[in-house]
Amino acid sequence: MAATLQINVKPLNHQLLFNSKPCSRHCCRWATIRCAAATTPSTRRYTITLLPGDGIGPEVISVAKNALQLAGSLEGIDFGFKEMPMGGAALDLTGVPLPEETLSTAQQSDAVLLGAIGGYKWDNNEKHLKPETGLLQLRKGLKVFANLRPATVLPMLVEASTLKKEVAEGVDVMVVRELTGGIYFGQPRGFSTNDIGEEIGFNTEVYSAPEIDRIARIAFETARKRHGKLCSVDKANVLEASMLWRKRVTALASEYPDIELSHMYVDNAAMQLVRNPKQFDTIVTNNIFGDILSDEASMITGSIGMLPSASLGESGPGLFEPIHGSAPDIAGQDKANPLATVLSAAMLLKYGLGEEKAAQRIEDAVLDALNKGFRTGDIHTAGYNLVGCKEMGEEVLKSIEHKIPAAV
Ligand code: IPM
Ligand code: MG
Repeated sequence: MAATLQINVKPLNHQLLFNSKPCSRHCCRWATIRCAAATTPSTRRYTITLLPGDGIGPEVISVAKNALQLAGSLEGIDFGFKEMPMGGAALDLTGVPLPEETLSTAQQSDAVLLGAIGGYKWDNNEKHLKPETGLLQLRKGLKVFANLRPATVLPMLVEASTLKKEVAEGVDVMVVRELTGGIYFGQPRGFSTNDIGEEIGFNTEVYSAPEIDRIARIAFETARKRHGKLCSVDKANVLEASMLWRKRVTALASEYPDIELSHMYVDNAAMQLVRNPKQFDTIVTNNIFGDILSDEASMITGSIGMLPSASLGESGPGLFEPIHGSAPDIAGQDKANPLATVLSAAMLLKYGLGEEKAAQRIEDAVLDALNKGFRTGDIHTAGYNLVGCKEMGEEVLKSIEHKIPAAV
């Protein structure tokens, strides 16, 4: 069922959520990413692995699953869902955070949708028994090296941002984070003692030239489909791995003469993101800087509860997950914002399966529910209708059903 397809080979519409320029002649030069092809208009069937995980994960996944099912059915798509344990839930059930069966099911499916992992209960576990270790094993196992994290300030949510309206309004940043390398995975790592007997912990930030090149290419192509600006973020004034990063990104720029490339040190980038976020279009950065900057970028939009992500490799299924965590403090209370996961489902349709119409239905429905004034606690401001996770989900479903989708 899965077939090699160029990601976004079709011209994209202007899109509010994952803003992209209308098609230019460059659209058809996207890096090849394997995804399930949309073949005939009526009989597409995909297998989706659902990994609800921990905390609010099961609540938000249940909403996103319903949205996928409904938007899919309206577009002639039939989904087979396989729900598998992962993270703390898997630890409790099987003793490991990523059971082999979960990984192999994910690898054999067309796309993977993850809720969230982690919680107080497992915080003090040994490293190999932490839920987070399972997530890293999953990313590595699926070889999803390119993590796209859009942060877009929606006009109706501008008041939810902690930044001044004039700073936040119109922000639309895409963080392209390298996901399977750098200090998260570098060797040597571990605990030891130094030469005077003190306890030490150490990690290694390491990138090979091919690892940098492949993420840089994805970033240049992403910038090309957006507003043509790419800012590469590093710490090349201090770190050798960043010096190589900058050298390779600079060398590749000659292949993308239409892209305006700039470089920024990460400390400055963190500052510029809150000073004047509108200066950024696409940001490319390593694993750890991307982890930090994407959380920062998310707050500009008002809530981390709104932001989806897509993780893609050269072949095989993509992994789609909200960028927020498992929020154990509100788990099981019907207070979570399911929209980041619903929007991750839209990214799954668009980037993972090439099903742009169904993706558009979901994106439109999210905007519609927000336009009608429904807000979960994290994005609620005076005068709006405060709802829980389930009710927000129901509103999204109603909107999917009723709204005539934008033509794609
Ligand atoms: C994220 C998370 C993860 C990361 C954790 C849970 C391992 O913070 O997806 O941003 O650091 O990548
Ligand atoms: Mg993070």
